[in-house]
Amino acid sequence: MKNLIVVGTQWGDEGKGKVVDLLAAKFDIVARYQGGHNAGHTVRLGDRKFILQLIPCGILRPNKLAVIGNGVVLDPAALLGEIESLEQAGITVQGRLFVSNRAHVILPYHRMLEKAAESTPGRVRIGTTSRGIGPTYEDKMGRRGIRVAALLDSQTLRCQVEAGVAEKNLLARALNASDSVQAAEVVEQYAAFAERLRPLVADTAALLAREMEQGRSVLFEGAQGTLLDVDHGTYPFVTSSSSAAGGACTGLGIPPTRIGRVVGVSKAYTTRVGEGPFPTEARGPQGDKIRQRGSEFGAVTGRPRRCGWFDVPVLRYSRMINGLDSLVIIKLDVLDHLEEIPVCLGYRYRGSDLKEMPALASELERIEPVYRTLPGWCSSTFGLTSYEQLPQRARDYLRFLSDWAGVEISIVSTGPEREQTLWMPEAEFTREWQREPVHDGA
Ligand code: GDP
Ligand code: IMO
Ligand code: MG
Repeated sequence: MKNLIVVGTQWGDEGKGKVVDLLAAKFDIVARYQGGHNAGHTVRLGDRKFILQLIPCGILRPNKLAVIGNGVVLDPAALLGEIESLEQAGITVQGRLFVSNRAHVILPYHRMLEKAAESTPGRVRIGTTSRGIGPTYEDKMGRRGIRVAALLDSQTLRCQVEAGVAEKNLLARALNASDSVQAAEVVEQYAAFAERLRPLVADTAALLAREMEQGRSVLFEGAQGTLLDVDHGTYPFVTSSSSAAGGACTGLGIPPTRIGRVVGVSKAYTTRVGEGPFPTEARGPQGDKIRQRGSEFGAVTGRPRRCGWFDVPVLRYSRMINGLDSLVIIKLDVLDHLEEIPVCLGYRYRGSDLKEMPALASELERIEPVYRTLPGWCSSTFGLTSYEQLPQRARDYLRFLSDWAGVEISIVSTGPEREQTLWMPEAEFTREWQREPVHDGA
């Protein structure tokens, strides 16, 4: 199979975990290119539920390699905890997981600064996951970050932590934060983490290049979603990394010429966690009902997700930014109860139709969504595994989304489990998938 990017097309939590787990069957390596343990990718295998935050979902299939790329920000405690819980569940991680020596490390002072920034009066509150993600990327771009390679070198680690702690304590005081961090404690703790991480660390760009040279295929697992991308999302209500498909190249050291396909993942409706514009948000009982039926609570923070209708302008924008070849629609079953389903087809702003996604969050807050209401199918699609079983109105709904978004739908998910999935028979990606053999060990 040609190397494939799986990317979220909305504001995250689209179901990337389920899709990556499903598609990993026909790849050799699964690689994360950005984000950190702000991600929560759920995979359900029978009665077992895994929420992966840092480790690519491919780890759940035997014999696949999993790579955490240079574009990821790494909290060593979170990674070690995740490895431990996988191993307790009987999944072998050692020898299959590789961590980039160029990934940046999250330190306690990053969380301290994020907490202070999020609660400082007068600063825009983003509603982050409080994992220190933003401040770590700030240090990376400010060329004062600590990379995994530095973590493994005790002398470098000490020097860099001391400089970081001195600066961050000053900043924390300026933000009136009550916390501070002690350099000696951090050095001791992180030196201990380093010893446990050492066997996993590699030059992952070189590793991937070697593997691809030998004909192995890579599935790139996006975290967050296109509208949370630091450049292309609803800035400043975004995460701090390049979550759109373009991030896969820089976040792993993969040449653009090695990317074969891009598949987007979207819910049959829309959700968002945290602050920021959400044009199709359904406030009140309709939104509550979707939240309840879809169990829309954050996999990482447990926060209730804001729920709303499918937003065609968002999908068209995602198609453009990511160059989507194909689309996966998740959670169709959550809409089973609805007699009518509104879909947003366009935005109006100050009396005119908007042709492009506004760059200003304040403008997006004020647009007026233009809806078309489609009839619901009012019967259960939960767990369906073939297109032929779908009620006609559900087929019409999918056809409508695909026509308006301008991208083929190849896969529809009808439940959280791997098998609760159906393939669209006419889609190009479906045919390509059927031609490819399952790779060893899947
Ligand atoms: P990710 O961050 O994009 O991987 O998505 P999350 O794991 O945060 O959220 C998706 C949630 O939807 C998880 O709880 C999944 O188990 C669940 N899920 C995935 N596909 C389906 C589906 O088709 N139907 C239902 N009802 N739940 C699904
Ligand atoms: P997955 O990979 C949904 C949101 C946060 C907040 C904003 C910035 O599971 O789809 P951050 O902690 O990254 O600085 O927070 O981004 N956010 C997510 N929302 N899914 C995610 O990941 C998210 N990761 C971050 O809620 O609004
Ligand atoms: Mg998630």
